[in-house]
Amino acid sequence: MGRVEGKVAIVTGAGRLGNIGVAVCRAFLREGAKAVVATDMRSEQAQEIKDLVASDGYPGAFRLVEHDVTSEADWERVVADTLAEFGQLDVLVNNAGISIHGGVEDTSLEDLRKVMGVNHDGAFLGIKYCAPALAESIDRFPGGGSVINTVSMASYMPNGGNIGYHVSKSAQRMLTLCAAVELGPKRVRVNSVHPGQTTTPLLREHYDDAGIEWLVNLSPLGIESVPEDTAHAFVYLASDEARFVTGASIYHDGGLARHY
Ligand SMILES: NC(=O)c1ccc[n+]([C@@H]2O[C@H](COP(=O)([O-])OP(=O)(O)OC[C@H]3O[C@@H](n4cnc5c(N)ncnc54)[C@H](O)[C@@H]3O)[C@@H](O)[C@H]2O)c1
Repeated sequence: MGRVEGKVAIVTGAGRLGNIGVAVCRAFLREGAKAVVATDMRSEQAQEIKDLVASDGYPGAFRLVEHDVTSEADWERVVADTLAEFGQLDVLVNNAGISIHGGVEDTSLEDLRKVMGVNHDGAFLGIKYCAPALAESIDRFPGGGSVINTVSMASYMPNGGNIGYHVSKSAQRMLTLCAAVELGPKRVRVNSVHPGQTTTPLLREHYDDAGIEWLVNLSPLGIESVPEDTAHAFVYLASDEARFVTGASIYHDGGLARHY
């Protein structure tokens, strides 16, 4: 019996090889998910990702669909299509995210809104449009519905050079807490995973090898983390093992957050 046996999940930001979203999809399927609907704005690696997941050989269904998390119409379509094909929704992972480096003086309002749009508004819309279906999950599973937001240690730690990312992740953290309070009575749990350094294409866009080594050494454990490590935290929160867990923040950061 898998840890998310029979569940149906939507995972955003899962359209890039080597990223956290793809690792979460594969982990859910390994743990017996009935279906995983991966979504992303990107589609250029769609076939490679489908081939990779197929090569895992797990029995659950896998779909990869184009979806802009900032679009309400896209959310309506993704939720409707998921329910039409699989008849249920149990887990939502708001994982899509972007970063545009810059401080308060050199970030344009347009760039700030772009980052807020994906990192905060995208998660807000996901919860808004998925909540009614997630509230029915309690009829099937003792853990009820589960929303998992991929936030960041950036939501706690100020940084002078990346204002949009830190502010948007901070807003996404409070969104998690507010939604946990509101949706608890409907038996929808809302939690967050806060990765520290996780070697993915996004990290590689901003840091070279020396930069990643510097990040790794910031944490007490001092070891590199990869998406497959992070995915374990998502499996736990999606599973019925976490039926009493809501509004929680899992720091998946090698101890970086010891002061927060
Ligand atoms: N890698 C790290 O060290 C790290 C640390 C902390 C938090 N995170 C968070 O983890 C999440 C996943 O990041 P990742 O490192 O796997 O990077 P990634 O860039 O590979 O994944 C993010 C995905 O989001 C997609 N995306 C961007 N805008 C979108 C939109 N409007 N609609 C739909 N999809 C969109 C991208 O195409 C990409 O595939 C992000 O929210 C990121 O902020 C990552």
